[in-house]
Amino acid sequence: MHPISTLELAQWDTPLESTPAAEATLELERGKVLFMPRLAFALSQSESRFLSPDWLEGSAKNVSFDPRTDKIAHTSASAGDRVALAAMMSRFAQQARRLITNVCPHYGDDLSPGLTSFRPVQTSGRMTSPKKDDTRVHIDAFASRPNQGRRILRVFSNVNPRGEPRIWEIGETFDAMADRFAPRIARQAPGSAWLLEKLHITKGRRSAYDHVMLRLHDTAKLDVGYQRATVKTRFEFPAQSTWMVFTDRVMHAALAGQFLLEQTFYLPVAAMLDERYSPLRILEDIYQRQLA
Ligand code: SIN
Ligand code: FE
Repeated sequence: MHPISTLELAQWDTPLESTPAAEATLELERGKVLFMPRLAFALSQSESRFLSPDWLEGSAKNVSFDPRTDKIAHTSASAGDRVALAAMMSRFAQQARRLITNVCPHYGDDLSPGLTSFRPVQTSGRMTSPKKDDTRVHIDAFASRPNQGRRILRVFSNVNPRGEPRIWEIGETFDAMADRFAPRIARQAPGSAWLLEKLHITKGRRSAYDHVMLRLHDTAKLDVGYQRATVKTRFEFPAQSTWMVFTDRVMHAALAGQFLLEQTFYLPVAAMLDERYSPLRILEDIYQRQLA
């Protein structure tokens, strides 16, 4: 099965007919990347000044924006620049929301927005710790924001002004990866979730699900032999294209590229068309116990 499915959408707010929408939603749930080669996020002439790593604050790798509070963070921009950069990210958040509403109308109000991120740094050759190295295939799991089984659905737009693609690799299926690594994962230590919350290391309680997902993320990234040998499909997302994917299920790595906008959404598994495809249910099947 090729991991990419193409959708010829050219507008952010054109609703799909109900049958193609249900088909697209199921493809996403089954682990495909939905690629929209003709859907570009347009920057205005004056916004193109933001296409530079200079707007990052300190050692930050991305500027973040919270569409729920309109707060922007990790940027050196001040005054009018800060307002304009926030407006650009807010517009991306709104368009990403419209896109998901049109492609996955079934999810409706069950879909809640997370953070918006702007990534103006070249991904290749960046020095990071192995666990933070996104050039290694992984599923997304958040160390400080437990999500108790909720899905992570992300919309990405490559806004590179020089026509450079964002290059990804897609790894094996979630089922295969989980069968390989899940049996090796030790149980969460008793009391540890309570302590992490108490010390404000996590925002909320880290569930057994969050524990397993984080361990899967780390174990796969740290296994150099696995990284070398696992079958990967390389794909180049061209400049001015958009794609969406459940990154908690699809093994992915970003090898190269600069200037990306990304919007995260959360979805309760009960809102899926078929929750058997969720990492939560797959892992509960493997462990034969409730995880969230
Ligand atoms: C990731 O989610 O691993 C990184 C995606 C990207 O920056 O292209
Ligand atoms: Fe990732």
